[in-house]
Amino acid sequence: MPIPAAVQARAAWLRDEIDRHNHRYYVLDDPTISDSGYDQLLRELQALETAHPSLITPDSPTQRVGAAPLAAFASVAHRLPMLSLGNALDDAELGEFDRRVRERLERDGPIVYAAEPKLDGLAISLRYESGRLVQAATRGDGSQGEEVTANVRTIPSVPLRLLGSGWPGVIEVRGEIYMPTAGFEALNREAERLGEKGFANPRNAAAGSLRQLDPRITARRPLAMVCYGFGEIEGGDIEPCHSAAIGRLPEWGLRISPELRRVEGLQGCQAYFNDIQQRRFQLGYEIDGVVFKVDEFALQRSLGFVSRAPRWAIARKFPAQEEMTELLAIDLQVGRTGAVTPVARLAPVNVAGVTVTNATLHNAAELRRKDIRVGDTVIVRRAGDVIPQVVRVVPERRPANSLEFQMPSDCPECGSALIQDEAGVVLRCSGGLYCPAQRKEALRHFASRRALDIEGLGDKLVDQLVESGLVASPADLYRLDRTQLAALERMGEKSAQNLWDALHKSRATTLPRFLYALGIREVGESTAAALAHEFGSLEALMEASEEQLQQVEDVGPVVARHVATFFRQPHNQEVIEALMAAGLRWPNAAAPAAALQPLKGKTMVLSGTLSRPRAEIKAELQRLGAKVSGSISGRTDYLVAGVEAGSKLAKAEQLGVTILDEAGLEALLAAENERD
Ligand code: IVH
Repeated sequence: MPIPAAVQARAAWLRDEIDRHNHRYYVLDDPTISDSGYDQLLRELQALETAHPSLITPDSPTQRVGAAPLAAFASVAHRLPMLSLGNALDDAELGEFDRRVRERLERDGPIVYAAEPKLDGLAISLRYESGRLVQAATRGDGSQGEEVTANVRTIPSVPLRLLGSGWPGVIEVRGEIYMPTAGFEALNREAERLGEKGFANPRNAAAGSLRQLDPRITARRPLAMVCYGFGEIEGGDIEPCHSAAIGRLPEWGLRISPELRRVEGLQGCQAYFNDIQQRRFQLGYEIDGVVFKVDEFALQRSLGFVSRAPRWAIARKFPAQEEMTELLAIDLQVGRTGAVTPVARLAPVNVAGVTVTNATLHNAAELRRKDIRVGDTVIVRRAGDVIPQVVRVVPERRPANSLEFQMPSDCPECGSALIQDEAGVVLRCSGGLYCPAQRKEALRHFASRRALDIEGLGDKLVDQLVESGLVASPADLYRLDRTQLAALERMGEKSAQNLWDALHKSRATTLPRFLYALGIREVGESTAAALAHEFGSLEALMEASEEQLQQVEDVGPVVARHVATFFRQPHNQEVIEALMAAGLRWPNAAAPAAALQPLKGKTMVLSGTLSRPRAEIKAELQRLGAKVSGSISGRTDYLVAGVEAGSKLAKAEQLGVTILDEAGLEALLAAENERD
């Protein structure tokens, strides 16, 4: 049965419309339709195609997934070789490259280069004939690659047909397929949840996802592509320089790097390199350097290439983030909450400029999954400021007699049983404050700057105090006398006096600090502040039920349980009592009663230059219950107008809002604080 013309036209319109939205979303990063609106279009097209299968075209947006799994990848001969790049590892090597280019081109003046980040993924060549994607191939050895068309078709930023006009009849576009960091992390979290292995880094994840014989698996992986070059071109021309030719690709629906720039001479290259290096970890995808290419194609041609690398381009690489070293031992650390963390002790190795000797192994489950053993050669990775990690073992280098690492069943510090948490990931010592390791961590936390801020109570001292049996709980700290302190190792009379002073000074604190210092699980600074604010006193908080606790903002059932359990334990009650007896005290925090929030329900706006920092005034107003807003409206109660309050002042006058000058504000604060 012939398909009605109206249906054909509707299907064609839907296809165009969906392609256009894909382009706006993936290439221009500027969507003009909601996700659900987009889904609706796609579903309508799918319905039409199901009703009339002969409507389906290979480049229909519904046809991205759907190819059957392959038995093997076919081999593809590249019509133009896919080259690799020479490296410059420092400024001097980059300078050498620029000098060689100028010499060969017999130029005295600066060369114009196109500069791009060097993405860490895998190179791909897309072949479009009459605007249709007909083939996608990996680089392989540069002359022969693998055909991965069905997989590449599932990548949303790869158009199945080119948009716009002006593209050559045959055009091969080359670029990098990669996995953005967020997608990579989500994929690995999911793998962990399923007890699967996960990928060592985004590059492996991209390569592993693309080289799947079943395109449906590739389709579920968050892959993206950016284009940075060309292969064969026939039946048309492109612009005469790299930056301009690449610059046209977005019009045709292909993505390019938003960081593409034209730079002038060595100086321009260096400035670009420094800029990208600084922003490297904010880009959202991994790069291992930047690439500089002589911009003009005519100059590229006259430079030519040596072996497999062009003379007209270079990769200025960052120092490697991954290095190999030997794993000397696996130590177990017991944290404040009893969680046992395996830590790798490594033969010292320099990773991106920093000597690494320890790396976290996260938890027992991860250790098992990666099968990391003492004596192994391992890959260590340091990404930015992130704590170094052991990525994986190099299996070829494993000693013949190596044994699988066994987690002990008892705490290495106190011998109490280790207990697996519900998720089966974390092993926890059941010893509580009986365990010296937990005791030490609890004391360190108690004394830390944001808790009771006991200056001079360092790690070594805490170790000594616990190991000598002088201190078991925070309350014991306040029972120490100066003679005991002075008798400790490496403790002169002067430092003993200083520590004693610091201990005594620390007794005057605030309720939020005190609550935070107790080290209740899941109670960080902001939760401690919220609890103090809501209950006003320690006594009220200690008596609160789980239901009452859950009324507090950001306190869910888990936190409420931890808090209630903590205060119900006789041991903890004793410690608190002893601390109070030792003289710990704080000004009574604002109780929730409205009387103590005299500005409750008032909206205030600050404007102009004031004699105290705005944040300080704002905090004070909020403590008194006011809402501090950034803009004036009919609902504003007060405008505090400093010097040059400008347009807000005019608007407040217009709306009849009460205007306070700085003296007026201070008078208000003084009056309200008095009542407080
Ligand atoms: S140009 C003729 N540009 O780096 C030059 N390559 O080490 C061919 N790469 O195989 C490559 N970002 O996988 C070029 N902006 C970029 C790149 C880039 C990443 C990769 C590509 C290539 C490898 C060479």
